[in-house]
Amino acid sequence: MTVEEFVQGQIYPEPILVVEDEDSVRSLVLRKLARAGYTAVGAANGIDALALLREQHFGVVMSDINMPKLNGLELLQIIREAYPDVVVIMVTAYGDLDHAIAAMRLGASDYVVKPFDLDQLMNAIQQALRLRQRNLARRYIEFQSRVHPRDEANHRLLLSTVMALANSLEAKDPYTVGHSQRVAALAERLAHALGLRESEIRYIHMAGLLHDIGKIGISEAVINKPGPLTPTEYAHIQTHPLISERILVPVAELNGALRMIRSHHERWDGSGYPDGLKELEIPLGARILALADAYDAMTSQRPYRPALPREVALREIERGAGNHFDPSLSRLFLGILAEEG
Ligand SMILES: [Fe+2]
Repeated sequence: MTVEEFVQGQIYPEPILVVEDEDSVRSLVLRKLARAGYTAVGAANGIDALALLREQHFGVVMSDINMPKLNGLELLQIIREAYPDVVVIMVTAYGDLDHAIAAMRLGASDYVVKPFDLDQLMNAIQQALRLRQRNLARRYIEFQSRVHPRDEANHRLLLSTVMALANSLEAKDPYTVGHSQRVAALAERLAHALGLRESEIRYIHMAGLLHDIGKIGISEAVINKPGPLTPTEYAHIQTHPLISERILVPVAELNGALRMIRSHHERWDGSGYPDGLKELEIPLGARILALADAYDAMTSQRPYRPALPREVALREIERGAGNHFDPSLSRLFLGILAEEG
């Protein structure tokens, strides 16, 4: 597979962070981005921007230069170090070529001049996303061709423990084992396409393997029931993410995966469980798992129904974008599955 094939000329509208201290300019840009179908979040200064970057996933940061607290160039330097795959576009004042040059030297991918033409700005964002997604695709291909990059002894030991734990569920729920492995692999692919850090990708992979481990605490008769569940049985099954979390809490090495596991049945519109979290409140790893989990569940045979054809499952994911699933992640996920043909 080549980088071009991977990207296939398609650009995924990843979330955008708009850092701008002038409220009117910030809301204008946010509105324009929302109309163009992007998820965009605003920050009034560099400090707030960093807090958001720690919590959420963004593909592009568009930042003003002159801001109180942390200015745009300082923010740019921190992003370059801490989030090397996030593409930064600087906004400079008309005639301020010095700052524009400084920004490019510090690693901004582009700059736009204020007062800006909104179409030009949208163009810059498209270019930035294309650049980022090419880079990520290249890295993913390199990653795949490397010989077992995760083969450090510690990680191997942890992973085999995790596999043993995941397999312990097999006796109870034969369906879950293969499912967990496929969910882990799919979620890992999606995490790579998002440019997440290696450490986060590992947690997502392990969360995929272990998300349903709490089914150990669910009655076998309920898990394997061939017909529809009663409300009581359904409520019982809904406790499994909490049981998963409780089982795994003592394993310090899995701490980074716990929130993902707890929240893998949350829904974008807030109608999921156990906490009824909504949109970006749901940890990114959990939003990834929800997609991989739903897709694999639909395309596998269950005690109460046969496997759905792939096309039907893809359509269901599409229909769920924006209510069940994170809309921009869903598009990326469908893009990845489409490459498989
Ligand atoms: Fe589950």
